[in-house]
Amino acid sequence: MNPAKMVDQLNEVLRHEWTGLAQYAQASFVVTGLWREVYSQMFWGSAQECLTHGQQIGEKIVSLGGVPTVERNSIKQSNEIEEMLNFSLDFERTAVAHYVDAIQLAEESPEDRALVILLEDILKQEQQGVDDLGKLLRDHRQMSVNIDKNSMAG
Ligand SMILES: [Fe+2]
Repeated sequence: MNPAKMVDQLNEVLRHEWTGLAQYAQASFVVTGLWREVYSQMFWGSAQECLTHGQQIGEKIVSLGGVPTVERNSIKQSNEIEEMLNFSLDFERTAVAHYVDAIQLAEESPEDRALVILLEDILKQEQQGVDDLGKLLRDHRQMSVNIDKNSMAG
């Protein structure tokens, strides 16, 4: 394995996790309205997941002789729930792409199978995020359509 290349790739992953930590934490603070209790907790849970993943990746970067980044990318902000959820879906899809790239690079080194497994474990959780948010947004839109139909019928 080229450790420097792997460290760069993992730092890109870590930067994304720090971005998610800030974006999800802010969303949990600013969300208001009737669904605040539900979404504030959901966003806070996602922020904690980013922190856990950041810890796993940061520890691995140091194991490989690198320095974990403290930088993050710019975050997407909104105080409208559906927009927040769309930003979250974008975030999780990008996380999946970053972990897929990191796994491809790690697979070039058969001696570090454990790194592939670590990244795959996290990838499963990122994909779960994409699936959950996708369902949430889909049901939300379908429900709106049904409500419109019902009110027209009434
Ligand atoms: Fe993550």
